[in-house]
Amino acid sequence: MDENKSFYEINNKKFKIFIPAEKITQRIKELGFQISKDYSGKKPLFLIILKGSIFFASDLLRLIELDCRIETISVKSYGNEMKSSGNVEVGMASNIDFTGQDIIIIEDIVDTGTTLNYLINKISEYRPASLEVAALLVKPEQNKYDIKVKYMGFEVPPAFIIGYGLDYAEKGRQLPDIYALADE
Ligand code: PRP
Repeated sequence: MDENKSFYEINNKKFKIFIPAEKITQRIKELGFQISKDYSGKKPLFLIILKGSIFFASDLLRLIELDCRIETISVKSYGNEMKSSGNVEVGMASNIDFTGQDIIIIEDIVDTGTTLNYLINKISEYRPASLEVAALLVKPEQNKYDIKVKYMGFEVPPAFIIGYGLDYAEKGRQLPDIYALADE
């Protein structure tokens, strides 16, 4: 591997490569195939959770061979910190009609599960036909809410992670590979 890609630094914090882009691409192909198969004959609604999911969603959705709808929602709980604030801010008023729809939420990462717990409860009030989650990364040790992720890319340890849409203080989102905070 290119040595320049092994480490990345943001605000004096050092991050070490953790999941290379090629591995991400391969796993997303498998997820796209699985979702297309599972929802064959249906017209699911994919709900992209901004901003972290932008790359995962755009790569995954281009592999979906279904008649589907795509909506976005802006949600934030981390601010510039490395820990969840515990408060979920839905930044964009949404008039999406979830009733009777087969919904797949697209998330980049399930950390404490606070964001998804909030959204799943909200969306469930609209009585969708079904509601599942596709998340590229899941930190099972951190999950406080027992969130079920039907379509999961990778299980990861509790380390702080950046790249491929995930940021630290709004930096590092553009990286094609995923990095984890190196030991200090
Ligand atoms: C991140 C990530 C998830 C959420 C996961 O979003 O994109 O939405 O945190 O953490 P949780 O499981 O502990 O709730 P963030 O608030 O950083 O917003 P962003 O996607 O715009 O960066």
